[in-house]
Amino acid sequence: MSDVSAAAPAAVSTDGTEANTGSAKDVTAKGKDKAKEKDKRVIVVSPCPPSVATAYMILRGTVAGLLGLDLNATLQEQSPSQVEVSILQPTYIKEGIPSAKFSITVGKKLGSGLVTLPEDPNEQASFLNLIETTANRIVNDAMPIQATMMASQSQAQERYGSHILNQGLRARPKKSTDNSNNSAENEQILVAQIQNLITCVPPALPYSTTEGLTIVLDRKQSFVSCGKKAKKAEVVLKFVATTTTTTAGTENHVATLEIEPFAPDSIQDLLLPEGQVLYEAQQQQEQAEAASAAALAAAEAAKQATESAEDTKPETQDAVVDDMVVNAFEVSGKIDYTKLVDKFGSKIIDDDLMRRLKALTVGQGRVPNLHRFLRRNIFFSHRDLTALLDCVEQGRPMYLYTGRGPSSAAMHLGHLVPFLFTQWLQQAFDCPLVIQMTDDEKFLFKGQYDDEQGDNLNYFADLTIENARDIIACGFDYNKTFLFSDLDYVGVMYPNIVRIWKAVTTNTVNGIFGFDGTSNIGKIAFPAIQAAPAFSSSFPVVLGGAPPDTACLIPCAIDQDPYFRMTRDVAHKLVPKTATTAGSPASNTLGGKPALIHSKFFPPLQGAEGKMSSSDSNSAVFLTDTPEEIELKIKQHAFSGGQESKQLQQELGADLDADVAYQWLRFFLEDDDELEAIGQSYASGKGEYWSTGAVKKRLVQVLQELVAAHQERRAKISDDDVRKWMVERNILKSS
Ligand code: TRP
Repeated sequence: MSDVSAAAPAAVSTDGTEANTGSAKDVTAKGKDKAKEKDKRVIVVSPCPPSVATAYMILRGTVAGLLGLDLNATLQEQSPSQVEVSILQPTYIKEGIPSAKFSITVGKKLGSGLVTLPEDPNEQASFLNLIETTANRIVNDAMPIQATMMASQSQAQERYGSHILNQGLRARPKKSTDNSNNSAENEQILVAQIQNLITCVPPALPYSTTEGLTIVLDRKQSFVSCGKKAKKAEVVLKFVATTTTTTAGTENHVATLEIEPFAPDSIQDLLLPEGQVLYEAQQQQEQAEAASAAALAAAEAAKQATESAEDTKPETQDAVVDDMVVNAFEVSGKIDYTKLVDKFGSKIIDDDLMRRLKALTVGQGRVPNLHRFLRRNIFFSHRDLTALLDCVEQGRPMYLYTGRGPSSAAMHLGHLVPFLFTQWLQQAFDCPLVIQMTDDEKFLFKGQYDDEQGDNLNYFADLTIENARDIIACGFDYNKTFLFSDLDYVGVMYPNIVRIWKAVTTNTVNGIFGFDGTSNIGKIAFPAIQAAPAFSSSFPVVLGGAPPDTACLIPCAIDQDPYFRMTRDVAHKLVPKTATTAGSPASNTLGGKPALIHSKFFPPLQGAEGKMSSSDSNSAVFLTDTPEEIELKIKQHAFSGGQESKQLQQELGADLDADVAYQWLRFFLEDDDELEAIGQSYASGKGEYWSTGAVKKRLVQVLQELVAAHQERRAKISDDDVRKWMVERNILKSS
């Protein structure tokens, strides 16, 4: 247990609790009237128990460390200084037990701190619990508490923010003509720190050591107030502080410690671990709220746009159902794929279609089996796949088109899904493939401009090459594959891009993608650039010789569907009727529209909802991860659908839908029989795979193998090799 090493200030008042200014003696000397005038002063004679003084200091610091109060002047812009701490109310006098009460106000109604107070009564109660447990953790962890004297209160406030001072003492801007107001500000002040994280002003009181200290909140008199109806957002704490080893008096702790000036860079630096969890939860909630607000706005704009669209109508708009959000830029909430298909107006791949697919691929002897992504309904929805298969049956030409927006060098397993499947499709249909790298898109949506450094367009161009190595490593056929960067190649597609621009109104694009008048004009123009490769005439050399109505199949994750709804709507303007009716026996029923096959999302490690992100390194397994990293991530972070105890697990079994390890096995374990066996064992809690540990272990093996093999293939691909795949060349002739 640590000592509270506090320097006894030169003018320690002995009045038992802190007074705003001056000492009890002063006030009495000046007579009753004066005292009445300054009725905010607290004058008490009984000495404050050291345990109470210490607990007060820790509680005050705890709240600051949980909320990230504006401890530092550098952060004050983000967090207006409205934090006020009341003076200590010495309830120990009346009650005869070591107790006291104080409040921390963080603003009006909802508060103004970076972390606002909870509004929900249940959350408020658990926030009080959190304060209590955290304060006692600080005691139990024997976190060192240091104290030092600062020359003036204004200096303390400048360095640590307004909450360092007690109510009424906040430094006001200096008036050059008036010095008298500044007298309090020039007073010395004792500041305490708990591991550089928390700062607070302990009252000038006798402290105890933290050894044997227990802090208990009185739930009847402690509360959190916050909300639209609340006058102010505050935390009121009434506490009892008992200690098994109280040594009263100041003489036990008189060492002055020099404290390093504490200059946090970010709000996170100010927070205790518990506070960091709160802060992250709040950030996530804010993001989710912003996302659903954006999605609602997009849906609203979409409605308006559909009403006013001139000449094209998207088939349906983005899906915003309950808290599920799926559009080209945002995937969040629990995804209900049936509802999504309903909303988007695409079709589920049914058994009939599956049989036809099998006959035209496996039946041709080009692949041993339907891809596991099809067998397991991971690619689950389509548009016009039936008509595309008609074309294939009739021996008409087809090609595949897919793409990637190179937004980061770190590709993860989820990014591989469409490419692994596209590779299978290329083999299964023995057809050409074009792969679009939308470096332009990523710059328009995520690029930055700096007055000194310029913009980072080249960064995205470089990412194209980096990402292309991962894509090529998926095993495409070089002779039948053309990979291109928009920045490099868009000129060739330009005539078709112009045609698409002419065919689509701004209202339509805004409606589909949620843009508005504040969006840069590149964003509004971009959908045409993603649409163009869906028409064979965009590739006069690469697909030179292909008829203009060559069927195009686009494998993609379902969030890309909005781009291709727009594409399909304008197809008739790019592929003339004369082209589509040409040839026999039957006409091409696609009418120039690309066919689509959609995948579900690969779930993040933390839970089978939504899609993975490259920005949270613990939500994904990256293609560059080592075997050890893979093992650690799966073991530590993969959300388990198993039960809480061994007994319950053996009784009830696991929830396979919620279990990330099992869900990932569905994506990557090839053997159907083994997957089935694992599923049965795990879901029943019996047999070899009865436990989460066993299932995770199997997944680790599968992924270590897959990633190692990928890394080996990737290592053999040089930047020069990538450039060869990007050379404009005819990929039809060899088909
Ligand atoms: N917009 C896609 C992304 O951000 C990239 C892309 C371009 C794409 N063309 C495509 C994806 C065709 C699928 C199919 O990742």
